[in-house]
Amino acid sequence: HAPDHAPALVIGSGYGAAVAALRLGEAGIRTTVLEMGRLWDTPGPDGTVFCPTGAPDRRSMWFRTRTEAPLATFLWLDVVNKDISPYPGVLDRVRFAEMSVYVGRGVGGGSLVNGGMAVTPRRDYFTEVLPQVDPAEMYDTYFPLARRMLGVNTVDPAWFEATEWYRFSRISRKHAANAGLKTVFVPNVYDFGHMQREAAGQAPRSALAGEVIYGNNHGKRSLDRTYLAAALGTGNVTIETLHRARAVRRQPDGSYVVTADRIDLTGRTVETREISCSRLFLGAGSLGTTELLLRARETGALPDLSERVGTGWGTNGNVMTGRANHMWDTVGANQSTMPVMGIDDWSNAANPVFAEIAPLPTGLEHWISLYLAITRNPERGTFRYDPATDSARLDWTRAQSQVSVASAKKLFDRINLKNATIYRYDLFGGNKTFADDFTYHPLGGCVLGQATDAYGRVRGAPGVYVTDGALIPGSIGVNPFVTITALAERNMARVLATDHAAYATR
Ligand code: FDA
Repeated sequence: HAPDHAPALVIGSGYGAAVAALRLGEAGIRTTVLEMGRLWDTPGPDGTVFCPTGAPDRRSMWFRTRTEAPLATFLWLDVVNKDISPYPGVLDRVRFAEMSVYVGRGVGGGSLVNGGMAVTPRRDYFTEVLPQVDPAEMYDTYFPLARRMLGVNTVDPAWFEATEWYRFSRISRKHAANAGLKTVFVPNVYDFGHMQREAAGQAPRSALAGEVIYGNNHGKRSLDRTYLAAALGTGNVTIETLHRARAVRRQPDGSYVVTADRIDLTGRTVETREISCSRLFLGAGSLGTTELLLRARETGALPDLSERVGTGWGTNGNVMTGRANHMWDTVGANQSTMPVMGIDDWSNAANPVFAEIAPLPTGLEHWISLYLAITRNPERGTFRYDPATDSARLDWTRAQSQVSVASAKKLFDRINLKNATIYRYDLFGGNKTFADDFTYHPLGGCVLGQATDAYGRVRGAPGVYVTDGALIPGSIGVNPFVTITALAERNMARVLATDHAAYATR
């Protein structure tokens, strides 16, 4: 039978996809969004949408029998992970040979599971990373637009100084200052008004109840409440959940057909759909978008795609580490899950690092200062298509991660030296002091100006666009979602202004 048709089709529903869906809908273009995860709006038997972090159930992770949290152990005990039953849970850990990548699954993508840190990159580094993009336009128009649309706000500094919930940040700030390092407040999309009401016992607890990587039941302005709600509000956008896009092909008339598997809650494919479209917007994230295009090129479905598809991937230099504090430097049993401060040593040309002061909310005093460091790692990975498994493999070696570790180590050695403290050995498995085997910030794979033109138009596939983190070449120096959102806004504005006429009638 003839494929279903949508004038515009968007794959995924993370930051890039959500921007595309809203701007297409506003332009009056009927748009279908395909998201492989579920819609997170229905309470489970316990009355909450997302499961508790301390007692994860099947809602926590994407088709697993055991959770795979970033901190493998605590005091060398495997107390962190729990057995669960397979289900389309909200957090996925995609494992490649020597690197694994955490991603969100569901309507809202990464916004459902991330720490909400809404950081605008340094202008000089942004310009270096994306030289084709006019920085004035970004910093005057699209970054402010993205921050406004995402609902970015800042913690009240007076409350921050007084509350037990950010004692862990203040201790890390003190230790950084002792080493002559600067700390900065970072904005967030979590509603700090809600957080203060949580602390006062006037609102249900979420950030103050340990919730983050398996979803926040309250307070977080995730995309389903911002961009995607606005997109649905245009009346032109439909979101199809539990639809995993698998293949893309071009028809003789220049339209595209996407093959998508609709799965049920056990993961079984219950239907395979073909949906045709005049324009296709890829927002399946760095991994998802890159795999779709790589597969299309290598199977011959879109043979004219650039050789650069699959290249230019990086971890944003991510590395996690923990320090053991002195007995008198308590970090507090109570910790908010939303980071609001970072150590900013990016202007240190010899060793630029931006380290998020990360919470470790266990409900007990543990004297640990935890960090997610973003380093400047020039190493890049490449995806290769594996026909046997019909999937993308990532060429990235542990040695490539060592560049990030060495850089983070320089900074934290300095902090340890000045504070007479040491690293924690019990957090990441194998007595490791640095977690070098996962990233939260996958970037690249279909880099702007390489696999696409300067606005995300895919080379060799007119009418196909990349809108997500795949566009950013492996590094941005800060947590990436504000950049992904702002870049998508910039690209969509151009595409709707200039490509519209060619497709409007189909
Ligand atoms: P994103 O990954 O958000 O969305 C892609 C969507 O496409 C997903 O919903 C996925 O299910 C779907 N999809 C994939 N393949 C598909 C297919 N074949 N068919 C259909 N759907 C498909 N960043 C930041 O700036 N501040 C922070 O504090 C944090 N913290 C953080 C914590 C954790 C635990 C994680 C995992 C990540 C972060 N991040 C972060 C990173 C941030 O969340 C990430 O950079 C963005 O979500 C990436 O946005 P994209 O639009 O590229 O894709």
